[in-house]
Amino acid sequence: MCGIVGYVGNKHAQDILVTGLKRLEYRGYDSAGIVTLGKGEPTLLRTKGKVAGLGSLVAKSKRSDMVGIGHTRWATHGVPSEANAHPHHVGNIFLVHNGIIENYKELREELKSHTFVSETDTEVLAALIDELYQRKDVKLEDAVTQALKLVVGTFGIAVVSPKEPGKIVAARQGSPLIVGIGKGETLIASDASVLVGHTDEAIYLNDGELAVCTAENVELMDLASQPVSAKVEKIEVDMAAIQKQGYDHFLLKEIMEQPTTLRSTLSGRVVPEEHRAQLGGLNLTEDELRSIEHVVIIGCGTAYYAGLLASYYLEQLVDDLTVEVQVASEYRYRSFHLPKNSVALIVSQSGETADTLACLREIKRRGVPVLGVVNAVGSTIAREVDGGVYVHAGPEISVASTKAFTSQVSAMTIFGVQLAQAKGAGLKELDEFIEELALLPEEIENVLQTKREEVEKIAKQYATYEHALFLGRDTLFPVALEGALKLKEISYIQAEGYATGELKHGPIALIDDKFFEVMLLQDNWLFDKSMSGFEEVNARGGHIVAITNSKKDIPAESIIRVETKLDMLAPVVFNVVQQLLAYYIAVEKGNDVDQPRNLAKSVTVE
Ligand code: F6R
Repeated sequence: MCGIVGYVGNKHAQDILVTGLKRLEYRGYDSAGIVTLGKGEPTLLRTKGKVAGLGSLVAKSKRSDMVGIGHTRWATHGVPSEANAHPHHVGNIFLVHNGIIENYKELREELKSHTFVSETDTEVLAALIDELYQRKDVKLEDAVTQALKLVVGTFGIAVVSPKEPGKIVAARQGSPLIVGIGKGETLIASDASVLVGHTDEAIYLNDGELAVCTAENVELMDLASQPVSAKVEKIEVDMAAIQKQGYDHFLLKEIMEQPTTLRSTLSGRVVPEEHRAQLGGLNLTEDELRSIEHVVIIGCGTAYYAGLLASYYLEQLVDDLTVEVQVASEYRYRSFHLPKNSVALIVSQSGETADTLACLREIKRRGVPVLGVVNAVGSTIAREVDGGVYVHAGPEISVASTKAFTSQVSAMTIFGVQLAQAKGAGLKELDEFIEELALLPEEIENVLQTKREEVEKIAKQYATYEHALFLGRDTLFPVALEGALKLKEISYIQAEGYATGELKHGPIALIDDKFFEVMLLQDNWLFDKSMSGFEEVNARGGHIVAITNSKKDIPAESIIRVETKLDMLAPVVFNVVQQLLAYYIAVEKGNDVDQPRNLAKSVTVE
């Protein structure tokens, strides 16, 4: 939530900052702004709305300044407006901030001499730093450190001042921040994508750390002003991964690249010839694995649904295992109990989700091993877990999560196989899962190649509906929930996912001509039961889109038949069809599919 960039070096900062903000726009797009320092007064440009608007301001302003900071905002305190846009300016201080200053009201009371011009918590921090900066012989980093000691909340900040124009001070507590080390240039960013094209060396700031950056040097310290040694790491993001590569939207690109990204998830981990599926990096011995009796899977949104689907697989794979799946924003405040021999799987694409991170920390505090199932390399969750796995889906830029789901489910299924193997489960049952995992990329590829146009045509018929129900049984229930989430967030059609068997306990009352129903019908032991639900909806005049791998006659209004050799993992293939359906409905409605209203991708605030 909110993206931060900073540049100090030997090139024109304005363009670099705007390009960086475009790459961070998935983090929020309520307003955007930059300030640059050079000869004369600082140049502050801010606008409500997207970074494209800022680009137009920069085109008119054309400054050759070589230092600056920028921000793209997801509004928390104060409406999206130019006045509330960052950078905030007070006296000699310009500040950009990602996070929430929780005690901003108290601090505001104490800063009576300042007239506040925005509704934000961030302006309070800028005013506080400015006040401390006015004291004699105080350097910018001293003023920032002293101010941060008085702050309660979360922050990733970058601060500049015309009094020390060749310097950016950045600090982190709870919101991600990295410092890119280039040749004669230093960059600050909320994620590594901003550094692409400049440098592949970076320092990931830890909580409570502050960086004093000039073009040639980066000095790290803690909030007690004690020096901290910097660990410079290689970053691995390539340009192609952060470009649309000919697709109209990142969302479509990310849906279409699932065969490739899933192959990366499975690579070296699933080897059917050796009857092996195994994750490195769990940091658990065979004995520790064998002793696991309970798994709690934690995530938010799509990551939670991935966990829910994986929980069915873990239960199928490991006889003596109990599995629970929890929404992080709830779990963190519950009086939860974890039995002896538990492990937690912390699932997150971004690796920065505040609620998920809070659960991780609480569970870790209780001495229960926490394993990450994370996509973003170097992210906070990835760095705080005891062990775990990167899903290697590559940067997911569109706000709605697609390819991460497929990789997360697969990675957790491998974990299940590994657990079962450690506990001595029969080779035959495990082999079925291993073979299905190995086949999954090809199956998804086949569906994407053969069904895309058909789904697009069908989607056009359903774009005018106001409501939708997604129905599935067993492993297709979490998929129904995920299908509804995808549709609602990008098409703004109100959509609910339900277990088909629950239909008659309430939701069937909803069915009318404003609704369409997506029914997930897998040709397996529950097919007839699912068809009962189908008949109940059909008898009430439902407008059913059936997604099925059955060859049987199904009297649906629309039908998408999926060819799949898979059994257990077929729901993952069904989900890909739903992703296409949601995408094409949203496109038909003319929506901004990559950046849906009110959302941000990386939810680093509560
Ligand atoms: C839905 C979506 C969100 C995220 C959720 C968790 O398409 O993108 O529901 O899945 O915010 O995010 P991560 O996985 O980054 O923790």
